[in-house]
Amino acid sequence: MALVAARDLVQKKHALLRNFPVIGHARYLLETIGPELRQYVVTSNEEERPFSRDQRTWIYASAKEENNYFGFGTDVDVEHVQGHAYVKQRTFAGTLPDLHDPQAPLPSAKVLGGPRGRAKAFRPASVVNISAMSFGSLSGAAVTALNKGAALAGAMQNTGEGGLSPYHRNGGDLVLQIGTSYFGCRDEDGTFNLDKLKDVVAGAPVKAIEIKLSQGAKPGLGGMLPGAKVTPEIAEIRSIPVGKDCASPSRHTAFHDVDSMLDFVELLATETGLPVGIKSAVGEMSFWQELATLMARGDRGVDFVTIDGGEGGTGAAPLIFTDSVSLPFRMGFSRVYGTFAERGLTDDLTFIGSGKLGLPENAATAFALGVDMINVAREAMLSIGCIQAQKCHTDKCPTGIATQDPWLGRGIDAPSKATRAAVYLRTLRKELLKVSGAVGVAHPALITTNDIEIMNGDYDARTLASVYGYKDGWGELGPELAQEITALLTAKPAPLQKPAG
Ligand SMILES: Cc1cc2nc3c(=O)[nH]c(=O)nc-3n(C[C@H](O)[C@H](O)[C@H](O)COP(=O)(O)O)c2cc1C
Ligand code: SF4
Repeated sequence: MALVAARDLVQKKHALLRNFPVIGHARYLLETIGPELRQYVVTSNEEERPFSRDQRTWIYASAKEENNYFGFGTDVDVEHVQGHAYVKQRTFAGTLPDLHDPQAPLPSAKVLGGPRGRAKAFRPASVVNISAMSFGSLSGAAVTALNKGAALAGAMQNTGEGGLSPYHRNGGDLVLQIGTSYFGCRDEDGTFNLDKLKDVVAGAPVKAIEIKLSQGAKPGLGGMLPGAKVTPEIAEIRSIPVGKDCASPSRHTAFHDVDSMLDFVELLATETGLPVGIKSAVGEMSFWQELATLMARGDRGVDFVTIDGGEGGTGAAPLIFTDSVSLPFRMGFSRVYGTFAERGLTDDLTFIGSGKLGLPENAATAFALGVDMINVAREAMLSIGCIQAQKCHTDKCPTGIATQDPWLGRGIDAPSKATRAAVYLRTLRKELLKVSGAVGVAHPALITTNDIEIMNGDYDARTLASVYGYKDGWGELGPELAQEITALLTAKPAPLQKPAG
């Protein structure tokens, strides 16, 4: 027993065993015999929320580069499960990228900041990136693992609203998020400070700025960081006093309506040269209608919008907010997309989606609806060892991911978890290329709303276009963008030159 305990404490593969030597093995035993047990007494592979056992198994196996195939066929009751999406493969296809190359690139079909001519506009190298999660809600080791993983996979990591910490400086490209508390770029009274923002941006590989208006799991809710949690480290990163309660307002103070928000966006973009976007959950639509109307004038605009579904995750939130405030991803996204599509603006900005999109079938559906890139939060946590214990709000996360407890955080071996995060991100991209190939197109952004049907009840399915009221061409790239991304992905490498003589 002592030997097993000693081995568990020093090994670096399993955070759970490092934190819970000996007894942690029970979890692996139960996981091994789980399928047999559940056949008789507990739940099926498709039950358990937010992520079903099948979904988690796929992420774990993908991250470990193990066999992520499923044997014997589907256990979904395919003709009856309402809301189930079916991708319609095509018999013949044009030129496709090499679907067997594990390193195959999958860049965005759009240049971020390109349409508005931002000085530091760029084409994101990965359509899958790591969603906003702050140091504070995640441990330093978890942020480090995700940052290194992003670097290995050529993806970006969003800092979350808690500011840019030393753990974000491990080589991965960053999207800097600014929430209502302006952590890291604020004055003592909590007002936004542009000079501080410019210093933060200049000192790290920040590629874009995201202004957080709301998140799907708790929209319109200000947070409270209790003084006990404001350690000297957190205080320094967030520019707040040590040990004092810090209340986050529910709304921004640097702007108060769509018009002043657009001025703020243009100010940040001009002063930093970076693409600037907004992240929001979707509730009432007048905000989006006004935004699209003002953007149609052409003089001001956001470079991207990140739409977060109501099914999205959080470190902690009241049940009424997690369950019932803001629309689920597909409903919310399609309404916002339609608002821009009505005004012919969809090629002028990048659409990013989040809300359980780190699974190939959900991601493919999101791309068909018009998403250009997806962000993954909890799926990235699963890839580095989260077991969906759902104790993120208690500071007692058994795997050391969502906690500030140094003993639990020590369980994470950042280098090996970074590899897992990177392999998961690459595998998801590869699966997206494969499903695009089945539909006969070179990139997931070319999948259309007529390529996917949604089960609508017993024996009846409708296209995405029909379910979400899309008009002809909605959800699709303009012809130039479509040609450009197809050419980029299907270009043959130049033949090797024969040496002269
Ligand atoms: C632990 C945790 C912390 C989060 N922190 C933030 C945050 O600081 N800012 C934000 O905009 N969203 C935050 N989110 C929401 C995620 O970025 C994401 O939008 C949401 O979880 C949906 O993605 P998912 O379904 O892939 O998890 C957080 C989510 C989790 C699970
Ligand atoms: S508390 Fe549970 S759900 Fe939250 S990160 Fe830790 S293992 Fe995952």
